[in-house]
Amino acid sequence: MGSNIAVIGTGYVGLTTGACLSTLGHRVTCADVVPEKVDRLNLGDVPILESGLDEIVAEGLKSGQLRFLLGAAHAVADAEFIYLCVPTPQGADGSADLSYIEDAAREIGHHLEPGSIVINKSTVPVGSTRVVEQALGRSDVHVVSNPEFLREGSAVHDFLHPDRVVIGADDQSAAVRVASLYIGLTAPIQVTDPASAETIKYASNAFLATKISFVNAIAAVCEAVGADVNDVVLGMGYDKRIGEAFLRPGPGFGGSCFPKDSNALVRIAEEAGYDFGLLKGVITVNEEQFERTAGKVVRMAGGSVEGVRIAAWGLTFKARTDDLRESPAIAVLQRLVERGAVVSAYDPAVSGPIAGLDVEVVSDPYAACAGAEVLAVLTEWDEFKWLDLDKVADTMASPRVLDARNLIDRSALLRRGFEFQGIGRT
Ligand code: UGA
Repeated sequence: MGSNIAVIGTGYVGLTTGACLSTLGHRVTCADVVPEKVDRLNLGDVPILESGLDEIVAEGLKSGQLRFLLGAAHAVADAEFIYLCVPTPQGADGSADLSYIEDAAREIGHHLEPGSIVINKSTVPVGSTRVVEQALGRSDVHVVSNPEFLREGSAVHDFLHPDRVVIGADDQSAAVRVASLYIGLTAPIQVTDPASAETIKYASNAFLATKISFVNAIAAVCEAVGADVNDVVLGMGYDKRIGEAFLRPGPGFGGSCFPKDSNALVRIAEEAGYDFGLLKGVITVNEEQFERTAGKVVRMAGGSVEGVRIAAWGLTFKARTDDLRESPAIAVLQRLVERGAVVSAYDPAVSGPIAGLDVEVVSDPYAACAGAEVLAVLTEWDEFKWLDLDKVADTMASPRVLDARNLIDRSALLRRGFEFQGIGRT
């Protein structure tokens, strides 16, 4: 029972994929290029904050279903299925950089078992299945696209309870073999061609990003006309055709996926001769949102933040992760620091200095507020809702809150004499 699987790359996607596949009864070998990381993982030391991951890695190690190895070539020996989960960072021109995936494919090419299937989970431009085939140089091995739809912070849940599993394959028997790996999950399995599978991934992320920029633009309208965006979203979301998901206004979208994938899809379309103006607008609205959020802090501080103490709650790109990549919180703080603000920040998942950002990171939310003229709430950590607002007011130089996630109880703030600004509501 179960298949022999190799997973190349132990980042957020690879580690979650490998550990979850082991819970489905497969024997999984995960490979990475960093020796210390492999050693730590073999001891059950998971380097990322991901709900439930520590537990299933520990279970997999204990049962022997999961192990970690140095080097992709060693991991693929005896594997029937090989998942590629390596990064595809944004290249200088906005397109995805495929060098990691090509290097990995070249490295494993000679070592693959005949008839094995290479499954690409990295987010890659349409047509990359062919690039992988070429880099492998093996006509006796299938390459299949199987994009991931995992959200950081709930990746284990998303893997085990997916909305769908998408398999892009030219060969039906290869698609069926890959589908069999997911027996036990109750999700529709869509089998399509590789280009469609790759497009589904980009289109899904771009659509979700579009929802967020749309609601942030509506929030700007709400501010101008005196409406409350929270009520507007509630009223829109009741319409099942619209739905309430991904309509939370905020400081803009960030993370390692939406910004990169939106830019990449603009490039993919451009290269195919289509000017994706709508998606360009989504990206522009997002960048404007960082500036709009910073501008609100400046206005609340009286028109200038030069030498002014600002407190920030939240640094990660969203709650329940420790990931700072493309964080809107950092984009906003960067703009404030450039205007001379003296920032003290607290985030439950972040300690120590942040490369390239001149802010003090403290380990206590009240300490961050000491002497501050404005408190900016930038990430939607639940614990911010339950903090002692009287203590916050006493600690600040003046009690002013910009709640860029519409997280904190507005009436509680107003009752305690705070000046308040939200997103799309005053
Ligand atoms: C996203 C997608 O949700 C996953 O389906 C996809 O697999 C993943 O990218 C990927 O391509 O690997 P993730 O980057 O973990 O997942 O983050 P999201 O939860 O989607 O949030 C992205 C950003 O949008 C965050 O900055 C978040 O705060 C923001 N956001 C999200 C909003 O501002 N409002 C919302 O209503 C929802």
